[in-house]
Amino acid sequence: MSRISVDLTGKVAFVTGGGSGIGRGFAMQMAACGAAVAVTDLDGTAAAGVADEIAAAGGNAVGLPVDVADAAALDMAVAATIERFGHIDFLFANAGVLGPAEFDAISAADWDLVLGVNVKGVALTCQAVASHMMARRQGRILTTASYNGVRAGAHVIPYRVSKAAVLMYTRCLAMVMAPYGVTVNAICPGVTLTPMQLSYAEATAAEQGITRDAYLADRAARIPMQQFTDIEDLTGLAQFLVSDSARLITGQAIAPDGGVMTSS
Ligand SMILES: NC(=O)c1ccc[n+]([C@@H]2O[C@H](COP(=O)([O-])OP(=O)(O)OC[C@H]3O[C@@H](n4cnc5c(N)ncnc54)[C@H](O)[C@@H]3O)[C@@H](O)[C@H]2O)c1
Repeated sequence: MSRISVDLTGKVAFVTGGGSGIGRGFAMQMAACGAAVAVTDLDGTAAAGVADEIAAAGGNAVGLPVDVADAAALDMAVAATIERFGHIDFLFANAGVLGPAEFDAISAADWDLVLGVNVKGVALTCQAVASHMMARRQGRILTTASYNGVRAGAHVIPYRVSKAAVLMYTRCLAMVMAPYGVTVNAICPGVTLTPMQLSYAEATAAEQGITRDAYLADRAARIPMQQFTDIEDLTGLAQFLVSDSARLITGQAIAPDGGVMTSS
């Protein structure tokens, strides 16, 4: 399938959780459109690997080790990015963790981890870049929320709560940033077969005594469009949301999810 391309030459993107899955996809797509990219991740080796992939394809990127729960590390990474590339146009506050699936297994430490990375981490990431974008009176911020942020369920409860909080934070930040011409939107991916989702599928299938493929086939059948979200669906949307065509779209939660939001 051919994709619409946007020329982002001269633009700079900062991605958290860029070493894997959806964040990697965002980083690669921004670079493919000509943007310079700061690929950050808790796993610094993975971040550097994605930056190397971008460079090998002729793009411009730097890989930085960053824990989004660490405000000082974020500030340093933002400063290093601005020093290297001059400014930041697009922020992808994407890093996230899943946490425990079962209600009985949830510990106090799990709440700290999941809310610490998914909620506090998103907020600290946005805050680290906000004043820079406000001063420039331009910028695009995308948070990665989830269909799980709007659908109740008996599993992955801390994760659902964290993603609901990301959606509210995104709307609040959109109100703060709107007078400065900075847009803030959430992407709510449906089930996307990244390492996070595949390890969840593996564990759940084992518990149910079925194969991972059988579990995934059943999961896909319960999605109205009966297919998983492709990373390209998400990166295509991200590309649109940072384009000039989306300058008045803000405070929205956008779900390329095959109808997961509406399925039971
Ligand atoms: N895969 C899905 O089905 C799905 C659906 C909805 C939402 N999401 C969300 O998409 C985002 C990306 O997830 P993914 O599926 O690509 O998973 P993934 O596990 O492939 O990638 C997540 C990345 O985040 C990094 N990370 C974890 N903790 C971090 C921290 N404290 N600081 C910085 N980086 C950290 C990991 O090292 C990893 O590289 C997450 O916010 C996730 O909740 C995923």
